[in-house]
Amino acid sequence: MRDLLSMHDLEKKDVELLLSEAAKMEDILKRGGSDLLKGKIIANLFFEPSTRTNISFQVAARRLGAGTVIFNSETSSAAKGESLADTIRIMDGYADALVIRHPQEGTAHLAAGLAAHPVINAGDGANEHPTQALIDLYTIKKLKGKIEGLNVTLFGDLAHARAMHSLLWGLAMCGAKITLVSPASLSMDEKAISEAREKFGAAIAILPALSLENTDILYMCRLQKERLGQAKGTKGAGANFGLTSALLSRAKPGMAMLHPLPKTSEVPPDMDADPRAKYFEQAKNGIPVRMAILKHCLM
Ligand code: NCD
Repeated sequence: MRDLLSMHDLEKKDVELLLSEAAKMEDILKRGGSDLLKGKIIANLFFEPSTRTNISFQVAARRLGAGTVIFNSETSSAAKGESLADTIRIMDGYADALVIRHPQEGTAHLAAGLAAHPVINAGDGANEHPTQALIDLYTIKKLKGKIEGLNVTLFGDLAHARAMHSLLWGLAMCGAKITLVSPASLSMDEKAISEAREKFGAAIAILPALSLENTDILYMCRLQKERLGQAKGTKGAGANFGLTSALLSRAKPGMAMLHPLPKTSEVPPDMDADPRAKYFEQAKNGIPVRMAILKHCLM
């Protein structure tokens, strides 16, 4: 039994094991699921909106024979003023694992300190989203057969997107060549870049504008509007930020476009028809990857 709180807690061999487990879960899914987690109850505690993470964790749990319960902050006693710590203690008493999303950075770590059962970080503020990064790495490996040596461009609100923070570490760990492109006021934290360079010798370039000629994987994200309001100097940031047909016309035919979703104006809807758009496939990979994560944390 173990927590999954941050990509920084995983070693490369853990990531490789999770990705190969996820591939095995695809076979289990083809056979209609398994009873591996029969008798277990997984509790989802979501204090922020979610479609994919919430639902795919429920589906993943059920495909492995586990039951699920959902805590919704708007319809529970949190709305009456119950503290986060009390909520975590109560849910820990009811379930065998907690999947938690919260707007405050560090909440998953706080939960892990209070809970006897494994805690899975489903997004803590702008900090991290490790299960999304594992889905992203799995998708890249599945599409390209490898991660090492690929040119991966991370494009978007790199200051506030937790998916980007977890993915930067995962890509550096796996030996990808990384290019960061964002509006000037929404750049990746310099400390995160220098840590990834120091720990993995990662090749990380920073460019002021998107250019796709050499890109194998274009990973985009939306402006994290819910966090922009709190951040200084970000008013109006990213107003003209997004992918255009002109940019895409210069990309390699084999480039893959990924996105954690939800996408907004940064990806015009007509891009969905481009064969390079792989984000719906990526979202579907959330099921086998989260099945592998549940197995890793519960067994
Ligand atoms: C992401 C998140 O919540 O950080 N969504 C997701 O889990 N797929 C990305 C986002 O909200 O932009």
